[in-house]
Amino acid sequence: MIVTTLDLFRVAYGKFAIGAYNINNAEQTMGLFKGCMESKAPFIIQISKGARKFTDKRMLEAIIRSAEEIFPDAIFAVHLDHGDEETCYDCIDSGFYSSVMIDASHEDFANNVAITKRVVDRAHAKGISVEAEIGKLGGVEEDVKVDEGHACLTDPVEAVEFVKQTGCDALAAAIGTSHGAYKFKGHQSLHFDVIEKIGKAIPGTPIVMHGSSSVPKDEVLRINAAGGKLDPSACGVDENEYLPAAKLGVTKINIDTDGRLVWTRVHREFFRDHPSEFDFRPPGKTFIDEYAKFIAAKNVKLGSAGQLEAVRAALKK
Ligand code: G3H
Ligand code: 13P
Ligand code: ZN
Repeated sequence: MIVTTLDLFRVAYGKFAIGAYNINNAEQTMGLFKGCMESKAPFIIQISKGARKFTDKRMLEAIIRSAEEIFPDAIFAVHLDHGDEETCYDCIDSGFYSSVMIDASHEDFANNVAITKRVVDRAHAKGISVEAEIGKLGGVEEDVKVDEGHACLTDPVEAVEFVKQTGCDALAAAIGTSHGAYKFKGHQSLHFDVIEKIGKAIPGTPIVMHGSSSVPKDEVLRINAAGGKLDPSACGVDENEYLPAAKLGVTKINIDTDGRLVWTRVHREFFRDHPSEFDFRPPGKTFIDEYAKFIAAKNVKLGSAGQLEAVRAALKK
């Protein structure tokens, strides 16, 4: 059942985080639904602009609507990831999306506010919620001085002003993570001091953590052992930090890269071990099962595993 993103946030806020997983095709979607049903977790499906172009936005919608029929007990929201203004309007008008992200974080504060406010007005008129972003995600290096390191993190004082002026429903904040497989050099940790300050500055507004993949070492090693050439220093967020962050208000945790690593490992190993094979269904099937396992394990770390019935009960109130 597709629900609003705010329905999920209401149950999770301050207690656990909802996994927001990017999907691009049918195999990923099957694995995602299977993993969330196995772990009895509510979830958010995210669709990026790239995903909407990869096949076709209508194809993705049809795949998700089919998955909803195949898994009638699933409870999830559909979200546009990193939207520009035009794509946000397309999603708002489609009647399919539960929420959109307007990412104008590259603009200065005033422009970011103005663009976000326009999207919020149009989305709210249709009952759709909006995630917006301030601060810039970046790498965190051990040898960068704290001041420099904090320079691109979200300023809690600005966060208050931004939420007040835009009326956005959730705030993507830069709290020490970055997108992709190479997030940290040296010691890795989220900036809990900043998360706590933002959480206290905007109580009740869910914080969104982008760039949350954990980039498991063994996954990188297996990919390289099967012919990959990933930089072995690739590393991500410590999964044991998801739940402490959730308790401070981080309610949506975005994960894409880790799923891509599962895909790459499964397919590289399959074709290494079966060099004469050319039917893509056997590795596709293995990927669905491995992706489901990965999602279920991730949901345990996020605290969303086992929360499906609590969400269902809250929806009836
Ligand atoms: O944050 C970006 C997501 O990982 C989506 O990536 O734009 O390559 O689909 P994409
Ligand atoms: P990762 O690259 O860490 O998976 O982050 C994904 C993301 O933030 C999608 O918006
Ligand atoms: Zn992101």
